[in-house]
Amino acid sequence: MPTDRAVGIHDLSFRTGSLVLTHAELSKHTGASVAKYHKGIGQQAMSLPAADEDIVTMAADAAAPVIERHGTDRIRTLLFATETSIDQSKAAGVYVHSLLGLPSHIRVVELKQACYGATAALQFAAALVQREPEQQVLVLASDVARYDLDSPGEATQGAAAAAMLVSADPSLVEINTPSGLYTHDVMDFWRPNYRDTALVDGKKSMVAYLAAVDGARRDYQAREGLPIEKIRTVCYHQPFTRMAFKAHRHLLDGAGVEADTAAIDDAIAPTTRYNEIIGNSYTASLYLALAALLDGDDELDAATLGFFSYGSGSVAEFFTGRVVPGYRARLRTSAHLKAISRRRPIDYNTYRRLRTHPLPDDGAQHRLPHQTSGSFRLSGIEDHQRVYETVHASADIA
Ligand code: CAA
Repeated sequence: MPTDRAVGIHDLSFRTGSLVLTHAELSKHTGASVAKYHKGIGQQAMSLPAADEDIVTMAADAAAPVIERHGTDRIRTLLFATETSIDQSKAAGVYVHSLLGLPSHIRVVELKQACYGATAALQFAAALVQREPEQQVLVLASDVARYDLDSPGEATQGAAAAAMLVSADPSLVEINTPSGLYTHDVMDFWRPNYRDTALVDGKKSMVAYLAAVDGARRDYQAREGLPIEKIRTVCYHQPFTRMAFKAHRHLLDGAGVEADTAAIDDAIAPTTRYNEIIGNSYTASLYLALAALLDGDDELDAATLGFFSYGSGSVAEFFTGRVVPGYRARLRTSAHLKAISRRRPIDYNTYRRLRTHPLPDDGAQHRLPHQTSGSFRLSGIEDHQRVYETVHASADIA
């Protein structure tokens, strides 16, 4: 039977790639002013995956503490959202299912629509829980944002995964209806199957993003959503963090709500703290914005938050959620800060070397060096199969 109980995010955990390249280091080689990166696009550093990390290892790392806290008894569905799919057929979530030792009575599926996929997963999860409130759904969002070397997009890369447990009577955020939806066929950012870097028209993508803010906000209001001024702040998809400030200005102007620059800065800055040092993580980015807001602000009990999810191509959604009073007791702030601080800084030449050694596609046996500081690793490739393993505490890191 459908439930009247609130449904939403019961737990939220994220992990990021084990390596970090600062924009100060990048600027020495691109010739761009570091102020352009720090202020113009709002990025200080970007996470990069080590040689033995990918969307599966990051997602397993993000999800392991969620499983440890809540167990697996009620999980019936695992939804894995990604733009950085590793297989045309098999869902990346099946590898995570195996690494985490989840029971067999779970459906696992992968979702794709650029950076929007995790929001689709969250809404599908909420609908499943509405139908069967004893069920919990594990939503994973994991991506490596990768653009061509020496392209303008290079400064907006990153890598991270978010894990969310969706349940009835959630501890963190109740997801409200209605949603404002917007789909428009546009070639602003895309990645044909034969490429491992995205193609992008940067300026067009920013225009497309802002058009989607309008479209989703209009649909939200047409469906009798809350007046925008009743929303405390909005977590935006953050391809680079300045985009969120631009988007909020655009949202408020479109809704006829007056706000000066300081008010916009105050509202949005708390949502950007993680993404400005991690970079774009496509599907996970919006939920890292939520994590930053919850982890950094202790006065959000019962606050209404807005969420704007954008996936190039394009599909967007605007919706709201209510922060559950007492949420602070369920946060994972210290683990999130540890995941960031454990990253190993690399210089530009090391970054270039990592980028010019793609995974082999000859089907032969290849071993990968142990570089990750996470709990799971891609140990190699064999017969065209990815081989994953759990890292034992005593293992040496290369
Ligand atoms: N000091 C301060 N600011 C400076 C500066 C300096 N010395 N030099 C430049 N700036 C400012 C510029 O004025 C500009 O700000 P405004 O947009 O407010 O005018 C900003 O820094 C960026 O400068 P440019 O426009 O010259 O930068 P660029 O041509 O190198 O490209 C970019 C920037 C388009 C974001 C590029 O990095 C890119 O293509 N990134 C990938 C695409 C992307 O992220 N698109 C976002 C929307 S699409 C989406 O959201 C989906 C997704 O995840 C990809």
